[in-house]
Amino acid sequence: MPAFTAHAPAKIILFGEHAVVYGHPAIAVPVTSLQARAFIRADVRAPRGQVHLLAPAIQLDAYLEELAPHHPLRRVIELTAERVGASYLPACQITIQSAIPVASGLGSGAAVSVALSRAVAAYLGKSLSAEAVSEIAYEVEKIYHGTPSGIDNTVIALQRAIFFVRGKPIQPLHIQCPFTLVIADSGISSPTAATVADVRAAWQQNTAYYEALFDQIAAIVSEARAFIEKGENSRLGELMNRNQSLLQQLGVSCAELDYLIDVALRAGAAGAKLSGGGRGGNLIALVDPSTSTQVAQSLKEAGAGGVIITTVR
Ligand code: PMV
Repeated sequence: MPAFTAHAPAKIILFGEHAVVYGHPAIAVPVTSLQARAFIRADVRAPRGQVHLLAPAIQLDAYLEELAPHHPLRRVIELTAERVGASYLPACQITIQSAIPVASGLGSGAAVSVALSRAVAAYLGKSLSAEAVSEIAYEVEKIYHGTPSGIDNTVIALQRAIFFVRGKPIQPLHIQCPFTLVIADSGISSPTAATVADVRAAWQQNTAYYEALFDQIAAIVSEARAFIEKGENSRLGELMNRNQSLLQQLGVSCAELDYLIDVALRAGAAGAKLSGGGRGGNLIALVDPSTSTQVAQSLKEAGAGGVIITTVR
C-alpha cells in the first residue's frame, strides 16, 4: 500500500522578531534536531475521498469533513490539493507527529503545515517548490497568528538560514562559520498572536516611540547579518543582548525569561535573548562549544525545560 512521509524542522529567530511584522528585517534559522512529520497511507477499502486524520499530540482523531472549514490541518490539505490541481484526496489515513513544543516560539504550527503539505503533494504524485509550500503554510499561519510576517513558514519551508523582509524576495543567508546555541524553554506557553496584538496596540498608541525601537532592532539585524557572513561570530553575543533589551522595552519579555537569560550569561554565554513571540517560550544563548554543557546544565538547574544544544550552519 503506497505510503508517503515528509518532515519539516523547527526554527528560531536569531534577531528581529516583532519588528519584522512592521517591514523590518529579521534573521531566522532552522533547528533540524526538532521535527514535525506527516505520514500518509492510502486506504483502498475506505469510501472514495475519505481522509482520516490522526494527531495524537492534540488528541485529534477525525475525518477531514468533520473539521471546521478553517481548521489549520484541513486548510493545508485543501490548499495543497488545489495547488496541484486535484479535486479530492484519494482515501487515506494521515498521521501527524511533532517533537516541536507548541506556543513556544519554535514554529510548531508552520512546521506541521509544511510537513503536511509536502506529504499531501507527494501522495497526489506531485512535488511543490519550497516557495509554494511556504505560501500554503503562510495562509494557515494567518489562522494561528492573525498578522504573521511570514518568517516562520519561509525559513521552515526553505530549511536554511534566511535574512527576511516581509513581502520581499527570500534572501538565503550564508553562514561563514558555524556557531553554537543553547535553546531553552521557559516552560511558559505563550501564543504569538497575543504578544503581536499587544505590540500592535501599543504601537498604535505611541507610534513614534515604537518605530524608534523597531529602527534600533533593524540596525542590530543588519550588523548581525554582516558578522554572520564574515564569520565574526564572537560579535553576535553583544548584539543578542542589545536585541533583548529592546524586546524588553517592547514589553514582550517576562520575569522568567529575564531570569533564565541572566542565568545563561552568568554561566558563560556570550549573549542571550528570547526568540519568537516572547512572554514565555524559548530563549537562545550564544555559547562557545566548550561552555555549552555548562550553560545548558545551569539553565536546567534554574528550571528551564527542553534544553537543546544546536549548531547553526
Ligand atoms: O513565536 P513565533 O516563533 O511564531 O515567532 C513570531 C515572530 C514574530 O515576529 C513575533 C511574529 C511574526 O509573525 O513574525
